[in-house]
Amino acid sequence: MSIKALVAHGSTNGSTAQIAERIGEVLREHGLDTEVRPAAQVGDVAPYDVVVIGGAVYAGRWHRDARRFARRNADQLSRKAVWLFSSGPLDASAAQRSIPPVAGARRAMAHLDAVEHRTFGGCLREGAKGRIARSLITSGRGGDFRDFDSVTAWAERIATQSLGARAEPERGDLRT
Ligand SMILES: Cc1cc2nc3c(=O)[nH]c(=O)nc-3n(C[C@H](O)[C@H](O)[C@H](O)COP(=O)(O)O)c2cc1C
Repeated sequence: MSIKALVAHGSTNGSTAQIAERIGEVLREHGLDTEVRPAAQVGDVAPYDVVVIGGAVYAGRWHRDARRFARRNADQLSRKAVWLFSSGPLDASAAQRSIPPVAGARRAMAHLDAVEHRTFGGCLREGAKGRIARSLITSGRGGDFRDFDSVTAWAERIATQSLGARAEPERGDLRT
């Protein structure tokens, strides 16, 4: 039976959703039966073996939809393989060093006993919602800092570890 994966995202302007889509593509390429959905639209997580939760960072906070999704499904998710990511920095910092999770993502890490958290660069482009977003763009502080090669490499790790975990025998199957 194939491994079922969910990539759930909290994204206001769509760039985190595109990172989630790329992760989904890679998981599918490795044979995982994968759905990519806005976190706010996911009902039941019971069908999934592996869950990736991604959220944009706004004003130092992990996206509300990602936080709510993690909280709402905490019971079930704490028994699954959960991987978290954030997208935010509008500079090259995420490509240069490991950026720790903001508080909401850190709490989700702890509650869900997540495998790992990763911060990717963010993206802010013409058409983004909100006055602050528009003024950041006008003052030249927008741009696309997403590194899809590192997104792909991270997704490949998720796929490899998920397939490896499936290959391991259940405890009860071990013979001494
Ligand atoms: C008003 C505003 C506040 C932001 N605050 C942060 C922040 O605190 N930390 C950060 O790393 N990125 C911050 N960003 C950058 C966003 O996280 C980045 O644009 C992200 O890619 C947006 O994702 P989305 O397109 O999925 O909504 C901010 C962007 C805006 C417009």
